[in-house]
This record gives sequence, C-alpha cells and structure tokens, in this order.
Amino acid sequence: MADNVVILGGGQGKRMKTDKPKVLCEVLGIPMIRWVISACEDAGLENICVVKGFGAEELDGYLGGKYKTVMQAERLGTGHAVMQAVDFLKENAGSNTLVLCGDAPFIDDYTILNALNQHNSQKNSVTVVSTILQNPTGYGRIVRDEKGITGIIEQKDANPEQLKICEINSGCYWFNTDDLLSVLFELKPNNAQGEYYLTDCISLLIGKGKNANAYISENPVIALGANDRRGLLKLNELARISVIDKHLDNGVEFTCLDGVIISPEVEIEGGATILPGVILKGSTKIGKGCVIGPNCILEDTTVGENTILNSVQACCAQVGKGAKIGPFVQLRPDSKIHDKVKIGDFVEIKNSTIGEGTSVSHLTYIGDSDVGANVNFGCGVATANYDGENKFRTVVEDHAFIGCNTNLVAPVKVGKGAYTAAGSTITKDVPAGALAIERGDTFTKEGYAEKKLKARTEKFENK
Ligand code: UD1
Ligand code: CA
Repeated sequence: MADNVVILGGGQGKRMKTDKPKVLCEVLGIPMIRWVISACEDAGLENICVVKGFGAEELDGYLGGKYKTVMQAERLGTGHAVMQAVDFLKENAGSNTLVLCGDAPFIDDYTILNALNQHNSQKNSVTVVSTILQNPTGYGRIVRDEKGITGIIEQKDANPEQLKICEINSGCYWFNTDDLLSVLFELKPNNAQGEYYLTDCISLLIGKGKNANAYISENPVIALGANDRRGLLKLNELARISVIDKHLDNGVEFTCLDGVIISPEVEIEGGATILPGVILKGSTKIGKGCVIGPNCILEDTTVGENTILNSVQACCAQVGKGAKIGPFVQLRPDSKIHDKVKIGDFVEIKNSTIGEGTSVSHLTYIGDSDVGANVNFGCGVATANYDGENKFRTVVEDHAFIGCNTNLVAPVKVGKGAYTAAGSTITKDVPAGALAIERGDTFTKEGYAEKKLKARTEKFENK
C-alpha cells in the first residue's frame, strides 16, 4: 500500500513580513514547499496532502490542483494541522505516513528513505528524523533516558538542562498511520504556546507501549528552516554554494562566484565556464566549452557547445553550437538560434528562427521571423511584425543581405540571396537574387546651410 505524506504549510511566517504563505518564500527562486514536495517525489512518494491555512488561495494557485489539500482555518499548532488531514489519513490507514514541515526545504529522498527503512525494520510507531546542531536554539529537543527516546520538548517549554540537548527534531517524522490516528485527538494544548503539538504524539505513543525512535541524520542542513528574511538568505546562500559545488565536481569552471546563482535543475556540462553575474534558472542547459557571462540571465534556455554569451538575457530560447551572442542581447521566448550565429549588441529576437552562420550584429529587432542561413543584417534593421491587432511573419531566405536601417513590414519575404538597400522600407516580397531599394531622391539646395551658419555665428559673436 502506498505511503501517505502530509506537508504542513499553514503558517503565516509573520517575521518574513510578507503577505504570502511562508512556504511560498523562495530558495534559489523555488518556493520552499516545492523543495519539500520534490524530495517526497524523488523518494517515490506520490500520495501527498498539503495542509494550508494563511494565504490558502495563493498556495492553491501555486499547487495548481496537483496535490490534495486540506484547510486549517485557525493556526492552533502542528498537531492541529495534522488533525485537519484526518480523512486523508483514514483513506489509507494501514500504511505509514510521513509528516514534514513545508518550511524546511533541504530534506532529501536519501534521508526520507533511510528513515523509513529504520522505521520498518524496528517496527516503530513513530520514527523522528533528528540531527545534532551546535546551536539548537529554537528547535524541539529530543529527550532520552537510558532506554531510548522519551519525547520531544519545545524550546519554550524546556528546562535549563533540556535546553543543553543538541539533538533536535527536524520536524520530519514517519508514523504508523493507525497509531498516529490513535493518539492524534488526545493531544492537549497544555504548553507555553497553548498549541496542539504534533511532537506530543511521541510520548503518548510511548505511554501506550509503542516503539518510538529517532533516525539521526548526519546532515544537519536537512533540519534547517527559515523564520525571517535573514534566515531565508542563509538558506539561499547554503543552497547556492551546494549547487555550485556539484558543478565544480562535474568540471565546470568558475573564476569568481560573485552574483552567480544557479537553480538546482540547471544542467551544465563539464568544461563550460561561468563568469560573474550569471543567473541560470529553470530547465536551462549549457553545453561544454561555453563561456557564459559576465552578466547573463538565462531561464529555460538551452545553449549548445562552445557558445559565448556575454550580457545576454534569454527566456525559453534555444541556442546552437559555436554561436557568439552579446553584449546586451535579449532572446525572448521561442527564439531558435542555430549554430555559429553571431548576434551583436542591442539586438532583440522574439519567436524567430535564425539560420546557421547568420549575423545580426547591431541594434536590430527580429520578431516572428524565419531567417535562413548565412544572412547578413546591417545595423538598425527592424521587422514590423505587429499592426496593433495581429502579428505577421517575415521570411528571409539563405544568403540574403539586409541593408542598414531596413524595415521589413510583415508579412513579407526576402528571397534567397536578395539584397535590400540601406534605409528601405520593404512592404512587398523581394524575389531571389534581386535588389530592393526604396528611398526618396536626395534634394540638394546649394549654399543654403552656409547662409544659416553665418547667421548663427554672427549672433554668437554679438553676445
Ligand atoms: C516545529 C516542531 C519542533 C521542530 C521544528 C523544526 C512542533 C510543536 N514543534 O517547531 O519540534 O524542531 O518544527 O522546524 O511541532 N504549521 C501549520 N499550522 C500550524 C502551525 C504550524 O501548518 O498551526 C506549519 C508551518 O507552516 C510550518 C510547520 O508547520 O511549515 C512548522 O511550524 P512552526 O510553527 O514553524 O513550528 P516550530 O515552532 O518551528
Ligand atoms: Ca519552524
């Protein structure tokens, strides 16, 4: 029978000073609850129920209906939060239930599965994931006697002796579901915070002669949570360095980590170099030999081998091998840049294909276009793709040469090898091999400027 997961996400996180539920606060751009859900899914656990409370609508919006949720209308403690999931637990009572805090993002599948192994092999009613912290302040402490664990005492309820205990409750537990249900509604808010503590289930179960034990994790970060912005920044920094560490092991070169932020899902092949100021997000993939940076933001973007990106912003774009892009280039969604393309400064590309070896070097906008191979764009070309209501496509075939300051008014096609003369506004298709020129005649008035200049200099001298 599949095991259950209950993720506690009802808290407000007052000290974060945010309007959103605390579990939506982000670490490396990913809400904390997503980290927790991913750890469960990595462990093969899919029967997930999220307890929501403060900001429930926003949390629902984020979860997108993919997980069961229950509402905790009042925040009366972690035990009260689990009580709200009683129907979910009863549906699958013969199994085990993993309970996790949605605000401790570094729990991982390794810890979850090893704790489950111990839980099953020791036939425990509850197995608490604990760890040893040098500074245990704020966490619940694991209290033991010579026979084993006797319970968990919260910081606010602990005596000075108990406060010295460094083994803390991570907030992650495996319960036998039937046993959890047998004590859950016996919880009483008799404590310093007047809350229903989930942690009291441990002593209640022990009182009923059940087995309770702790799985002691050797990795203290699994327990870390954030209560305020300073704590969240610490989590971000830990996650940032741990992601970069993984890439260092894989042979990615970093010369300086200033401003380098890489999301956990990003893939970088060994032999790539990441320069300062680079933010890589989402499902971005970087090929070997690439030099990315300084100052790039890439989101859900794929970059082929040996490509150079300097001061580039790209979202949902694909870039081929051996391309050279930047500085100050924006690749907007659905841009497909083929191999060996050169894109220069102040260029924006949107929803367009740029063929192999094509050069778009300066001050150009290419939107909704299909550009062939070895095309040359002069400086200041614009595709006029939008008439205020509809968007139209521009086609530029292989080897075409688009003169400086050409406007390509879509829908329009420039045939293979055709030229457009500088300054032309092209509204009709240009046949292959032709030159299209659209300019007014130059009208010259001899001596006109000379008279003007004389008037201007006299005025200046009389001052
Ligand atoms: C809890 C544990 C503590 C442990 C720590 C680990 C209890 C009584 N204490 O303390 O032993 O060391 O976690 O981080 O369980 N939540 C709700 N509804 C509520 C209260 C909390 O959904 O009514 C959620 C919060 O959103 C949060 C999680 O439960 O995700 C933990 O709550 P929090 O108030 O942070 O518990 P701690 O005091 O940190
Ligand atoms: Ca907490």
